[in-house]
Amino acid sequence: MILGFGILTLQLLQRHNKLLQAALSSGILQLVGTDHCTFNSTQKAFGAYDFRKIPNGVNGIEERMHIIWDSMVETGKITVTDYVRVTSTECAKIFNIYPRKGAILEGSDADIIILNPKRSFAMGARTHHSRSDTSVYEGRKGKGMVEVTISRGRVVWEDGNLNAVPGAGRYVRTPPFGYLFDGLDKSDAVYRASLRAPVRRGEAAAA
Ligand SMILES: *[C@@H]1O[C@H](CO)[C@@H](O)[C@H](O)[C@H]1NC(C)=O
Repeated sequence: MILGFGILTLQLLQRHNKLLQAALSSGILQLVGTDHCTFNSTQKAFGAYDFRKIPNGVNGIEERMHIIWDSMVETGKITVTDYVRVTSTECAKIFNIYPRKGAILEGSDADIIILNPKRSFAMGARTHHSRSDTSVYEGRKGKGMVEVTISRGRVVWEDGNLNAVPGAGRYVRTPPFGYLFDGLDKSDAVYRASLRAPVRRGEAAAA
């Protein structure tokens, strides 16, 4: 029974993977983020006999750029330009901080990565930088490695070394009413009008 359930789940996950990747390459899904929140094996074990007590979250902030490059660009599902869009530009637009973020332009923050498409990666708890002895990507291999990360013009990651300075981070305000809200007042009005429409009980009953 348990084995059967396991196989079914894996098939379902693979199907979900395919559908999500198709949605990302067609633009139905606009971007990929993470809900990075790691817990180690001791913390996860709180839910060993009651799944409701499992602390919710996995690693992802360090893996995101590599996973997307390997599964989407390396396989030809999206272009390099799409990669920039789904990892950065669209995110900045939705948070309403474009073009300060999400673009390489005069006046924008110089947040830039240099990714080597020829270099391979192997993910796991022994090599990742999260303070956790587990990784949801344990054993995941692929191509595409970020070699340099520049944050607001400062090199903060190079040759496997983190050069971040505590306190150098800056809070970025996200103004309200990003483009996702464009036209919302109109569609709201249509929706509200639909609520006032009389319910035709006779028709519904006859149907
Ligand atoms: C997990 O983290 C908790 C809290 O910091 C710590 O007490 C525990 O020893 C850790 N477990 C492992 C396996 O690292």
